[in-house]
Amino acid sequence: SKKPVRVAVTGAAGQIGYALLFRIASGEMLGKDQPVILQLLEIPDEKAQNALKGVIMELEDCAFPLLAGIEAHSDPMQAFKDTDYALLVGARPRGPGMERADLLAANAQIFTAQGKALNQVASRNVKVLVVGNPANTNAYIAMKSAPDLPAKNFTAMLRLDHNRAASQLAAKAGFKVGDVRKLTVWGNHSPTMYADYRFATVDGKSVKDMIDDQAWNKDVFLPTVGKRGAAIIAARGLSSAASAANAAIDHMRDWALGSQGEWVTMGVPSNGEYGIPKGIVFGFPVTTENGEYKIVDGLEIDAFSQERIDATLAELQGEQDGVKHLL
Ligand code: NAI
Repeated sequence: SKKPVRVAVTGAAGQIGYALLFRIASGEMLGKDQPVILQLLEIPDEKAQNALKGVIMELEDCAFPLLAGIEAHSDPMQAFKDTDYALLVGARPRGPGMERADLLAANAQIFTAQGKALNQVASRNVKVLVVGNPANTNAYIAMKSAPDLPAKNFTAMLRLDHNRAASQLAAKAGFKVGDVRKLTVWGNHSPTMYADYRFATVDGKSVKDMIDDQAWNKDVFLPTVGKRGAAIIAARGLSSAASAANAAIDHMRDWALGSQGEWVTMGVPSNGEYGIPKGIVFGFPVTTENGEYKIVDGLEIDAFSQERIDATLAELQGEQDGVKHLL
């Protein structure tokens, strides 16, 4: 049987953590033949550490055959030791009266420290997924704080936006959600993201042709996908958790096990593709194979798409400028 791999998860006692850990331990992320050791990180706060103990008791009570070990930590230097996968979920949420700059600064502190810790103690092949918001910028900060690790190992989660877009399109055009191919979401994980179905197909047929309604794209589809997170908070009183955890599983599974030639969306550092400046962590269409992702390059960008890509890029550059002095 396979040797266990180490999976670090931060914010492990939070909402997303509760929807995520059990699926990792059951083999949904890395395969039903891959044992895992969970290295869980929470803040030192007594309440958080107690909540983490409770989650660990429940993990034990599931008697997952693939769960080869569980560790609870309050120090990233311990939580990230030799880790092969790191899911950075914990982040500082926006408090009442908190300015955007304060939010960026609080998160810059967290992700600088965690990036440095990964740099020092993680596996040299660690695959990092940042879920905690602002996800793209937090991934950028962690990447910049880990100069000894390959930049390409740092990614941000755009998969929830991708899955939301797929579900809206399936409902509109009347196809099965699992049948859509070549869908992508460009840019920042924020309402400025650009969900793009110009290349999307179902059974080889163009989704754009099936829908054939640019007004719906602009006035219904994009705002619905962009504001879906807010709609869930309004309805549930809590932010998306199960769907976010599901997207994290999808992202890591496809990265680790391959997408079989299909496009998936990942937030990854640009190498200059599509005029996105090098190093910006941006949502791109990618294919994955043998544990590596490759940006789908050379797609045609029309005027409407360029405008959307420019807007989400400008927002990301603004966030990046806002943390520059902290790096
Ligand atoms: P939550 O508040 O329920 O849990 C977050 C947990 O992280 C808390 O238990 C907290 O103690 C912990 N934490 C905070 N700072 C930490 C640190 N420095 N180290 C370790 N743990 C730390 O929040 P929830 O709902 O689980 O969401 C987590 C994050 O994911 C939020 O930033 C949220 O905005 C983001 N998110 C991102 C999505 C995406 O698509 N990229 C989708 C949905 C949520």
